Amino acid sequence: MKVLVVPTAERAATRAAGLVADCLNVGDRPVLGLATGSTMEPVYADLVARFRTGAISFSGATTFNLDEYVGLSPDHPQSYRRTMHRLLFDHVDIDVGACHLPQGDAPDPHVEAQRYDAAIAAAGGIDIQLLGIGRNGHIGFNEPTSSLGARTRIKTLTRSTRQANAAFFAKPEDVPRHAITMGIANILEARHCVLVATGAAKAGAVARMIEGPLGADCPATALQLHARATVIVDGHAAAGLELIDYYQEIHPDGEEPVLV
Ligand code: F6R
Repeated sequence: MKVLVVPTAERAATRAAGLVADCLNVGDRPVLGLATGSTMEPVYADLVARFRTGAISFSGATTFNLDEYVGLSPDHPQSYRRTMHRLLFDHVDIDVGACHLPQGDAPDPHVEAQRYDAAIAAAGGIDIQLLGIGRNGHIGFNEPTSSLGARTRIKTLTRSTRQANAAFFAKPEDVPRHAITMGIANILEARHCVLVATGAAKAGAVARMIEGPLGADCPATALQLHARATVIVDGHAAAGLELIDYYQEIHPDGEEPVLV
């Protein structure tokens, strides 16, 4: 796992956006795995800014978001589809027909989950997968005790996840109880995983993910099995890391090392 401890949340977003930009510029028909959540908002703002300068284009890109709430239609104001349009899709030259999210109001969510897996496979898999992390160690909506071998399916959200997401809804009871989410197996198949965590509230989950034992009680620990996982954290989110001096020695302020 490559651990980049950067000085600020802004730098974390810039660093993550830079990795996505590299993927867009190098790849022929890049496939991006996208996440939602507050941590990702500055990442998408940075990508939009890069697009406006002409540094990147999304014209050949395909995207797959990690998850969507069960029961919300694509045009529901709180759907992740609408969120992605507001933050990214509406501001760049992406082919909206190539932007995929699970359909939250599909007649049979289980069939929809299988369809989504097949669509990822048909696109040739994901080149770079953006990830946030929940305070309880979830990635996507793979809550604690999720099977580390599961693919896209329905998950019941924990009370803590619903509380964390309540701010986006008019009333706490409006937060859906279920989500269709890519599984840990999907995430581990992405060719590069980039997880971003900022703020003190994530320090415990970040320490457990990077330095704790592999276990379904913290699904993010599955990234320890990935051959190319990059974790970008600010100083607050890094506060619980025992080996922080080592990470800083290899990547001072999160920069790439100069090998001499
Ligand atoms: C949502 C998702 C979640 C979030 C996580 C962190 O698509 O994948 O795993 O990344 O809940 O959310 P924030 O960034 O709001 O703390």
